[in-house]
Order: sequence, then C-alpha cells, then structure tokens
Amino acid sequence: METVDVLVKNANELITLKGPNKPRTKKQMSNLGIIKKESIAIKNGLIVDIGKNLKIKAKKVIDAKGKTVLPGFVDPHTHLVFAGSREFELDWKLKGLSYMDILKKGGGIIYTVNKTRKASMNQLVTESKKRLDNMLSFGTTTCEAKSGYGLQTETELKILKSQKKLNETHPVDIVSTFLGAHAVPKNYSTKDYVNLVINEMVPKVKSYASFCDVFCEKRVFTPAQSKKILQAAKNHGMTPKIHADEIVDTGGALLAAEIGAISADHLLMSNEKGLKQMAKKGVIGVMLPGTPFSLMTKRYADARKMIDMGIPVALATDLNPNCWVENMQFIIQLACFNMKITPAEAICASTFNAACAIGKNDSIGSLEKGKQADIIILDCPNHLWIPYHFGINLVEKVIKKGSIVV
Ligand code: NIG
Ligand code: FE
Repeated sequence: METVDVLVKNANELITLKGPNKPRTKKQMSNLGIIKKESIAIKNGLIVDIGKNLKIKAKKVIDAKGKTVLPGFVDPHTHLVFAGSREFELDWKLKGLSYMDILKKGGGIIYTVNKTRKASMNQLVTESKKRLDNMLSFGTTTCEAKSGYGLQTETELKILKSQKKLNETHPVDIVSTFLGAHAVPKNYSTKDYVNLVINEMVPKVKSYASFCDVFCEKRVFTPAQSKKILQAAKNHGMTPKIHADEIVDTGGALLAAEIGAISADHLLMSNEKGLKQMAKKGVIGVMLPGTPFSLMTKRYADARKMIDMGIPVALATDLNPNCWVENMQFIIQLACFNMKITPAEAICASTFNAACAIGKNDSIGSLEKGKQADIIILDCPNHLWIPYHFGINLVEKVIKKGSIVV
C-alpha cells in the first residue's frame, strides 16, 4: 500500500474546481466541482489522489469532518512592497476628498514613493513580510506583487528584488509585475518619463518580472502612452496587464483586448465596446472591490454584467497603502454583497480564475491530481459560509506545497 505524506479526509465539501484548464466564464464559474466526504492525498508537495475510500497509508491524517476544503486563495493584484502607511488619509476621505484630491494634497502614491525610496531593502522586506504573514493566515497561498512605488530605476529594482527575496523565503509564492508606470514622478514630463520607463527600466527589470502593468487613467498615462510601454514590455518578454478605467473611462478595456493583456483590472467605468472585446479575446477582468470600499465611493465595477457578457472574472485585494487589506475572504464578501456575484462565482474568481490571471493555472487554482498541494481547510460546513459569516477568519489550516503552515 502506498504511503503518502498527508491525507485530508472526510471533508463535508471538497471544492475541487476541476474543469477546463482555461479562464472560466459564465456557468463554468458556478461549477465548483464539489465532492462530499472524500479524501485528498498529498505526497512530495503534490496532490497524488482524490477519492472515496483511498487505499492509502499516510504519515499525517487530517480529519476535515464538517469542514470545507478548497484550493488556497490566489490574490492576483497587490502592491505588496511599500514603506510606511497613510492612515491620515482616512479623515480626508471622510470629508469627501477624492483619490485625485488626496494626491494633490501630498498624499497618495507620491507620498508612498518618497517613503519607499528612502527605505532599505531590509526594511521593505521586513514590512512586507508582515503583510504576507497576514495573507497566509487568511488563506492566500499565492499572490501577485507589483513594483511602482519607486518611479526611478534603482528603487523599482529594489522593490522587485525585495519581492524575489520574499518569494524565496516565505511560504506564499509571489509572481512579480513591473509597474514603473504607476505615476509620473516630480521633475518629469509624462513624455520623458514614458521614455525612461521604455528605454531604461524595461530592459533592466525584465529578469525580475513576468508581467508589466500601467496605470492607464486620465491625468496619469493615456491609452497611447500605455500602449507604447506595454508593447516595449512585450518585446522584452513581459505579459501586459492594465489598471484600466478605474476613475474615468479612457478606453483601457479596449486597449487590454488589443494589446493581448492577460488581465484588465478595476474596470469601474469601462464602456460596452471595450468589455465586449475583452470577452471576445478572453481577457480576465480582475475585480478589486476593496478599492471603492476604502475610497468610500459608492460605485463598484459591474462584475455581474461582466460575467453575464462572458468575461472571465477574478477577484483580488489590490493591497496598497490606500486599500490595506490582505484578506481574500473579505474581498469575496464585498463581491457578493456589492457586486451581486454569487458565492460560487466569487470562489472561482478567487482561486482558479485568479491563478489564470497570473499565468499559474497549470500548477495551482484547483485541486486535481498532479497539481501543487496548496489547500485550505475552513471551519464551516459549506462554501456559502465564506460570504455568509463575515468579519471573522474562517481558516483553520493552510497547507502549502504539502506542508501545514498555519
Ligand atoms: O490600484 N490606482 C493605482 N494604484 C493603486 C493605488 C495606489 C496607492 O494609492 O498607493 C490602486 O488602487
Ligand atoms: Fe492596483
């Protein structure tokens, strides 16, 4: 009889997300491949078997009776590495100041850029590690992390190197994105800065980042500038992503479809034509409901409409100093309550489709034979409880690459 390392048995719901290995749309998003009272066997960090009455011996048996077992959450959009904090902006937001007002008042991205430029790599790693610890405790086993608080080559590299170090030393896996085009730094015209990003930064960061992102927004980078940057990044082997149509509709969704972006993120204001093209090209729409929540704006992206149109939708925290949240359970709650997406859709969006949004769906995002054993055990009887019982941490155990880490 085969001996495995870990056997998780008897889960009330084992949510496998077994299905086609490409971004899921419409009804596929509701089909979570739930099996009941079955076991999952883990060896050498991989899932080796799933089924009833497995004839298997295990070094460690976990009885998941009455519990819900699912793939670890994947958070496909974070600004993980930054220095300092901006809690003082809360009072400003309560007085009705907008994101752009805050930027003009000396808060926002530029404030964090100044702090991050001054920080040592050690400081960045220490501060960001705390956030990764929080993520893991709430069930996130893989995340994406963007640079973007440097806006100068050496600091962008310092951030990306911090991400590399964290990836090597922390159980949470990190996929890196270069977001040099996050804002225009002081003393630069937008045109000059775009040239710096293209000619100096992109060639230097390419070995540290799989993706390149741009904040395509009114008064930040136009679609034409974004396109130039993303095309240059593509030529250097990075896959495009876009912060699109968050505050104003600038045609970011359409650009995402045209340039072959893997995802377009935010999409609060996107027009119909852009969204249709995203559906046609299979661009993943990454929804970030924590952002309007923390900005205290009433409008959320219309995830319901996007799913109905056939866009594969994913969910993410957007963790950053303006929206400081590591908890994907909370993001699922916001998505269900404020975007009218169902618990099942939200779970697919936080696991399998999220893995697709960072190009990791071959190894994570679902519980299937041969995939990495990134598994969470929740102290609740079924998946509806994830949005239903909000405000607590439902995670009981986290298994990362076959090891129990929480
Ligand atoms: O995705 N929109 C641009 N970037 C971040 C916010 C960054 C910040 O405010 O520090 C976002 O929301
Ligand atoms: Fe963001």
